[in-house]
Amino acid sequence: MAARLEPAPVFTLVIFGATGDLTKRLLVPALVNLARGKFLPKDFAIIGIGRSALDDETFRKELADGLTAFAKHPRGSSDWTWLSRRITYLGGDFSDQKTYTDLAARLSARGGGNVLFYLATPPSVFSIVTAQLGKASLLREDGKRWRRVIVEKPFGTDLRSAQELNKKLLADLSEPQIYRIDHYLGKETVQNINVLRFGNGLFEPLWNRNHIDHVQITVAETVGVETRGSFYDATGALRDMVPNHLFQLLELIAMEPPSRFSADAVRAEKSELLDAVHTFGHRDAMRNVVCGQYVAGKVDGKAVAAYRQSKNVAPDSATETYVALKIMIDNWRWAGVPFYLRTGKALGRRRSEIVIRFKQAPFAMFRETPVEQLVSNDLVLRLQPEESITLSFGAKQPGPSIVVDQVEMRFDYKNHFDLVASTGYETLIYDCMTGDNTLFKSAQEIETGWRIVQPVLDAWSRRRSAVPFSYAAGSSGPKEADELLARDGRQWRPFA
Ligand code: BG6
Repeated sequence: MAARLEPAPVFTLVIFGATGDLTKRLLVPALVNLARGKFLPKDFAIIGIGRSALDDETFRKELADGLTAFAKHPRGSSDWTWLSRRITYLGGDFSDQKTYTDLAARLSARGGGNVLFYLATPPSVFSIVTAQLGKASLLREDGKRWRRVIVEKPFGTDLRSAQELNKKLLADLSEPQIYRIDHYLGKETVQNINVLRFGNGLFEPLWNRNHIDHVQITVAETVGVETRGSFYDATGALRDMVPNHLFQLLELIAMEPPSRFSADAVRAEKSELLDAVHTFGHRDAMRNVVCGQYVAGKVDGKAVAAYRQSKNVAPDSATETYVALKIMIDNWRWAGVPFYLRTGKALGRRRSEIVIRFKQAPFAMFRETPVEQLVSNDLVLRLQPEESITLSFGAKQPGPSIVVDQVEMRFDYKNHFDLVASTGYETLIYDCMTGDNTLFKSAQEIETGWRIVQPVLDAWSRRRSAVPFSYAAGSSGPKEADELLARDGRQWRPFA
């Protein structure tokens, strides 16, 4: 974002859920980073709304404490001082009309104007807030002012609830006013996928079923369920990660080139791709999706208790903390190329990466050499923790006989670029301030994502045998996930 030097137009940011974790951990640190980069307008204000009765000073102090604790931001920095002067607090219940009358008075004291409403609240209140904002006429736009709403995830818990939520939001807002966030789209390396694929002549001609054997998408976490037991036990890995973050990666890796870098063009291609994903029948849902739950083990040398022993988790919970899926895409580019997706908690390594495995070269020429097998060519896009791109290929070991070794060409972002402090939310907030919704999800994209996983949720709820397979905390997941690939004569790229 360093290349975009324009500060956003004057606006007020209203945060619902202002005393919550998300505001402290991510939003405020992102706003401080935006202030440092001079991306915020001079006449900018934040109104935080929460249920607790706090005065402005106490609220600012809580945010300052969060900034030091979560973003390691030095106390009393000039960026924080600049921002904190613009922050006020409004206590009130989200379903009480009075909250909105008070808010309307505060906004008109600032001359009405542009407003960005950030719903950093539990999903159950998303549509309560928008309905109240609608009733108070706070969502009405005219040629001189915009009104936009950022909606956090999770967006629904299944296809029906996502459709209902879209319907409710769209009763008070138009589609371009809604910014459905997926923080994966704010990650630099996720955005770099577009540049790698479409800004280079080298890759795109090979990016299809003629040259690619399969694709692996891994988002592995070392953290367990921690303090989020009640949310997670009702959610599970599939709902928490797949129709959102993993599908974002899938869409960017597999979509057709958009004609322009514009919201409409990019979003249309992403939706089109999801639409081509083969829908699971009941048998496929049981065969091509593996779920796991961690039992006690060690992560980074530290003992981790079993998931079922976590706070606010049922002692006989059947919620999955790991899921692996084999997905097929029914279009000309990808027919026959499996996409293996996996994600899980309490795994041995924190690693998010995409592996593009190219087809093997024919072996014939090597028949009379000591070579037993040719190496594979993998293009690996590492997203987390450190960002890199590597390409592996075979090279001849020096010496009189033909021995092929696997070697790597590697590009590390940190060695080439000055990485600026970022939470991943800066770009997303900036785009919303400037009215660019390329990196946000449309109603259609959200619903298509749920449509793909819905048969899996249905199959699991019908079959008790879907109770997850166990894996030890600190391992690479259940062995059944390895069998998912072994069945096709393939294996996961090891974590190490
Ligand atoms: C969130 C999920 O959306 O993404 C969490 O609710 C998960 O369970 C997190 O840990 C992963 O995000 P990141 O940026 O750490 O990969």
